[in-house]
Amino acid sequence: MDSTELTRLYDFSGQTVVITGGTGTLGGEIACALVGCGANVAILDRNLDPAQRILELMEPRANHAVAVRADVLDRESLRQAAKLILDKFGAVHGLVNAAGGNNPQATTTESLPFFDLPPEAFRGVFDLNILGTMLPCQVFGKPMAEKGEGVILNVSSMNAFRPLTRIPAYSAAKAGVSNFTQWLAVHMAQVYSPRIRVNAIAPGFFLTQQNRFLLTDEKSGAPTTRGKSIIDHTPMARFGQPEDLFGAVLWLLSPASAFVTGVIVPIDGGFSAFSGV
Ligand SMILES: NC(=O)c1ccc[n+]([C@@H]2O[C@H](COP(=O)([O-])OP(=O)(O)OC[C@H]3O[C@@H](n4cnc5c(N)ncnc54)[C@H](OP(=O)(O)O)[C@@H]3O)[C@@H](O)[C@H]2O)c1
Repeated sequence: MDSTELTRLYDFSGQTVVITGGTGTLGGEIACALVGCGANVAILDRNLDPAQRILELMEPRANHAVAVRADVLDRESLRQAAKLILDKFGAVHGLVNAAGGNNPQATTTESLPFFDLPPEAFRGVFDLNILGTMLPCQVFGKPMAEKGEGVILNVSSMNAFRPLTRIPAYSAAKAGVSNFTQWLAVHMAQVYSPRIRVNAIAPGFFLTQQNRFLLTDEKSGAPTTRGKSIIDHTPMARFGQPEDLFGAVLWLLSPASAFVTGVIVPIDGGFSAFSGV
């Protein structure tokens, strides 16, 4: 191994990666990083309004990216997106399942105790995170199975290891994403090809649309009691920045991790290692 070989492992030229939730905060940043490393990228989301801004960030390589409308809960819309992407880029080598999130209605508060959480809010969070990961794996995993190679990267969360207070649906759903990641890793390797790998990242706490209302005060932007508690329990004493994900994401999508499948990699500033004492 030398630095030329190392660089080659992380050169994604000619590779196409699909990113669901690609106009979201983390998905969009991952898309930009991949394009910067030579990949063709398909940004999938149900709302493409933010896509233009992301494509501008990719300049001068924005012609290596395409934004496609698709709902991760609608397999037919994913199939149509897949057709469009295959027509444009010829193949799909990687899939990043970044669509996901919580719902305030599935979050306990003083005025919304656990006993009153509406079942439809639970169902929505389970569907978005679990079904919204499984369906893209079906649609984009099938051509990988036919070709005998490919790589899937799911997005789990810290609360998959131990549930966080107040967010029962999201915690259980992300535990499901981790479990499914292990299941699919084994299934793909045994039934289709050992050259299809399935892994997940488990980000710690990154300030984005989905959790801003829990972690920072809407008016002042200062950390809430919960936000402060998270920082106190993070040995690195800060929230994550999207670029903190890049090393692990590129590693897991690249041949540098050729013998790695079925793992969930925490990217959390030490949160999961810290007992609090
Ligand atoms: N931020 C964190 O600290 C953190 C920590 C651990 C894990 N994660 C996970 O990381 C992933 C990315 O999160 P993020 O923080 O970047 O959140 P985000 O900015 O809300 O991104 C999620 C994206 O998914 C899209 N989406 C939602 N439902 C969809 C559907 N049915 N079909 C297609 N797209 C849909 C959202 O679109 P809309 O805007 O239209 O809803 C949004 O663009 C999620 O799986 C999240 O659970 C985040």
